[in-house]
Amino acid sequence: MDVPGYAVITGGASGMGRECAKKFAFDGAAGVALLDLNASALESVKKEAESLSQNKDFKVVTHQLDVSNETEVNKVIDNVVQAFGRIDYVVNAAGVAFKHEGGAAFAETKDWKRVLEINLDGTFYVLRAAAKVMLKQDPIKSAIDGRELQRGSIVNFASVAGLTGIPTSTAYTASKHAVIGLTRTASEDYARQGLRINAVCPGYIDTPMTRSTPLIIKAMEERTKVWTPMGRAGKPEELADAVIFLSGGRSSFITGSAMVVDGGYTER
Ligand SMILES: NC(=O)c1ccc[n+]([C@@H]2O[C@H](COP(=O)([O-])OP(=O)(O)OC[C@H]3O[C@@H](n4cnc5c(N)ncnc54)[C@H](O)[C@@H]3O)[C@@H](O)[C@H]2O)c1
Repeated sequence: MDVPGYAVITGGASGMGRECAKKFAFDGAAGVALLDLNASALESVKKEAESLSQNKDFKVVTHQLDVSNETEVNKVIDNVVQAFGRIDYVVNAAGVAFKHEGGAAFAETKDWKRVLEINLDGTFYVLRAAAKVMLKQDPIKSAIDGRELQRGSIVNFASVAGLTGIPTSTAYTASKHAVIGLTRTASEDYARQGLRINAVCPGYIDTPMTRSTPLIIKAMEERTKVWTPMGRAGKPEELADAVIFLSGGRSSFITGSAMVVDGGYTER
């Protein structure tokens, strides 16, 4: 998929972030920075990624990070630049799901704030810190034909909940609609300066997130069997394929998009 540069992945310890780390390694990236709250899981993903790379100089760095802490985000991005010299790809996969029993009328402010702070503010803090670095660097060259590609490519995790309403997912649905808005406006800001910024909108994907609470497990079963034309949940690696495509040289004329990867969920 033509991803010879350095990637930063938030939420890299689990689910789709973890699969993205493995695919960047397998597809020839120079290095991967894995950022997540879960430090011990990051170490095992680091080993998995290292075992998949054919590149003898491949580097993996890990940082325990809460993406909703902007000071820490800025520090970690500085550290990554010191380790790698540049940042070519950002995958903003860190996120949390939450179901408010009874819906918006009964949603608690603390739950609303927590989901927005991680899913929206965290995505913004990482995008902002990385975009500043990307805007100053030379464009990366294609590993396949040597042509100049972008200065940087950012992929934000939205969701089908960024395009449609989902019952009792008040804060989550609002946060994912906002991630698409952030993606679109930022992509316009820098389209002529060589930054590409896209979103992916996964449908129902089998990850630790969708196995986390009884309410989410129940919604997942119903939404995959009844509402997803392909009749199954997606696999995290199927999302990682889309992320690697949007990050690399095969998508050099794509920016500001919200790519659905959902087994047909939003086609109706
Ligand atoms: N699984 C699905 O069906 C689905 C569908 C649509 C969108 N998404 C989105 O995809 C992304 C990845 O989800 P997943 O299913 O792989 O989930 P997951 O729970 O397997 O992984 C999410 C990771 O984010 C990390 N994280 C949570 N809060 C954090 C914080 N404050 N700072 C840093 N890291 C934090 C977790 O520790 C975890 O490692 C999320 O943004 C999610 O909203 C998931």
